[in-house]
Parts: sequence; structure tokens; C-alpha cells
Amino acid sequence: MYILGIESSCDETAVAVVEREEHNRVIEEQIKSQVPLHAKYGGVVPEIASRNHYEVIDYLAQSVLEKAGLTIHAIDLIAVTQGPGLMGSLLVGLSFAKGLAFAHKIPLAAVDHIHAHIESAFIDNPDIRYPLVALVVSGGHTTLFYQESRFNIQVLSKTRDDAVGEVLDKVAKFYGLGYPGGPILDELSKKGDKDRFKFTFPRMTDGSDDFSFSGYKTAAIRHPAAAGKSVDINPGDQTFKDLMASFFNSMVDYLLIKTRAAVEKTTPKSLIVAGGVSRSSLLREKFTQAFKDTPVELYLSSPGYCTDNAAMIAWLGYEKFRAMPNINYFDSHLNSYSRALFKRRI
Ligand code: KG4
Ligand code: ZN
Repeated sequence: MYILGIESSCDETAVAVVEREEHNRVIEEQIKSQVPLHAKYGGVVPEIASRNHYEVIDYLAQSVLEKAGLTIHAIDLIAVTQGPGLMGSLLVGLSFAKGLAFAHKIPLAAVDHIHAHIESAFIDNPDIRYPLVALVVSGGHTTLFYQESRFNIQVLSKTRDDAVGEVLDKVAKFYGLGYPGGPILDELSKKGDKDRFKFTFPRMTDGSDDFSFSGYKTAAIRHPAAAGKSVDINPGDQTFKDLMASFFNSMVDYLLIKTRAAVEKTTPKSLIVAGGVSRSSLLREKFTQAFKDTPVELYLSSPGYCTDNAAMIAWLGYEKFRAMPNINYFDSHLNSYSRALFKRRI
């Protein structure tokens, strides 16, 4: 079965063709990143994003099909991101997918972007067992989920303010390091002394398990002055590298402590870490080390599927279609589906 996946929720336009059932593989994927367009603003400009998706999406779909050696007539299912994301950007992908599905009478599966990030770990690890805990760390989300089975998902805890990737991007923007901040700070953190500056783990005053990252942002910006240290704001300066290394390392430790607590509380068989920030080499090393000799099996999404991509959309679209073959996209109430999917665990 051939599935065409379409992703346009933020600043990447992505199209993929995957094959499932007889073979389980990504045949072809092309991702058009808009990073150069948004870099000078230090973040995603929604209007620029949606206009660029609109300009490239049909060309990208055509190119992916050609490279895969297929035509649209060979496609058995179209899967598209329904949300969450930037409204204008989502509308481009959704309208394109709806048009294709309607014109060629192909079933259409609308997929939740965050759920697809979790599913991305299955592309290279088909043996992941449920129940599982999943940590999704991206530019828009920092959430711990408990999944009893594929379509039975509950939120264990989530950020009350900024997402971890958002903090990385904002701190990098503040120091004029470039966009997106995550990969830049990940590299910089390898060159500094992670124990030089102290960052305290945030705690919720109401005793909740939720995350908070806005304090990290403030601390990373104000720390040098508060500590009475003079830091030359220059990526080449050793004290600055130490500051960024301490900051990044503390955020990863915070994610680790919260994830370990969630695993101890729910005793899942598997643990998935996915989303753009899970590409961080520091995070991957620390999580691998921390869960090495524990009963839970750790699965890190493959580096190529951490950041936004369409293969994960196609992968989950297939699973959704298999589980609910009669679901008719054009009749379904997508938002209520999404809300029901992510009920908070009590
Ligand atoms: O999953 P994603 O592509 O988009 C969202 O759904 O948000 O995640 C983007 C985020 C950005 O904040 C980016 O700085 C971060 O992922 N990121 C990284 C790395 N690559 C991307 N953070 C740390 N280390 C990386 N190597
Ligand atoms: Zn994403």
C-alpha cells in the first residue's frame, strides 16, 4: 500500500511517499525548509510561512512522486497534518490534500502532528511495545504522554509556558547566534564547562508535574550579571561557551528527571523521545546513558525524523486508516477527535 504524506504545519513543507504492509519503508521524501526566509527575524513569520508553502507544495508533491517512480494513480491513501500548527500554513497542506483526494477519489487521513512525532520512532523501530511513555520536545511542545495503545493517549504533563525548543531559539536570538537556536546551542554546549554556572530546576508551586521553561530563558539571559561575572557575548569566548553549556545541560537534566519520574510512576514497556530537540546530541547521549540498565526500552526517533517531516505523517496516517478504515475525512469532526485523543491523565 502506498501512502502520500503531506506536512505544512510550521516552516517546513514536506512530502513523502511511504510503503506499508508488504514492505515498510520510506520510498522518497523531500523537505523544503524555510529557515533562510525566517532567519533574519529570529523566528517563524506566519504570513511568510503560509505563502511559501503555497508556492512550493504542488511542485514538491510532483517531484516526490517522480523520484518514487509513481503517479498519483498508484497512491492508496493520502495523509495530511490537521494540526496543531500555524493556521495559514495548515490550510495550505489541508486544502492541497483535500483537492488531490477529492479529484482522484483517494481516501484521506487527517493526522495530529504531535502524535505523528511520537509515531516517527516506529519508522526504524517496528518492535516498540505498548504501553509506552513518550516525551515530545519541539519548538512548540514539551509534553510527556502515556500511551496504553496507539490510539489511547493521555497527557501526563506539559509545559505551562515556553516549549524547550522555543527557549533555545529565543536565547540564541537574544545573543544574536542565529536561527534555529537548538542546533547552534547543541554544538556550542560541547565546547563549554557545563558545571560552571548553576541553574535551578523549576518547581510548580501547586505541586503539579507540569514543566516550566520560561525561568530558564530569563536565567540564561540574566545569569552573567546576577552571578557578578563579566561575559563577553561572543560565541568564541570561553565564559560564554560555559554559560551556554551549563544552561543547555541543565535543561536536558530537567527533562531527564521529569521523564524518569513519569517512567517510575507508570512502568511502561517502552520510552520514546521525539520532536526537533530530540536531535540534540547532548540529549541523546544523556538519555541513552540514563536508561541503559533499566527495565524500560528507550527509543530515540532517528535523527532524520526528529524535526518536522512528512514520513511520520504518512506512517501514522496508515495506522489510523487501518484502525478506522471507515473514517471519512469529509464527514469527521477533526477538532473533537484531536481533543479526545489528548485527554489529560488524572
Ligand atoms: O519538531 P520541530 O521541527 O518543529 C516543531 O514541531 O516545533 O522542532 C523544531 C525545534 C526548534 O526549536 C529547533 O531549535 C530544535 O527543534 N532543534 C534542535 C536541534 N535541531 C532542531 N534542538 C537541539 N538540538 C538540535 N540538534
Ligand atoms: Zn513538529
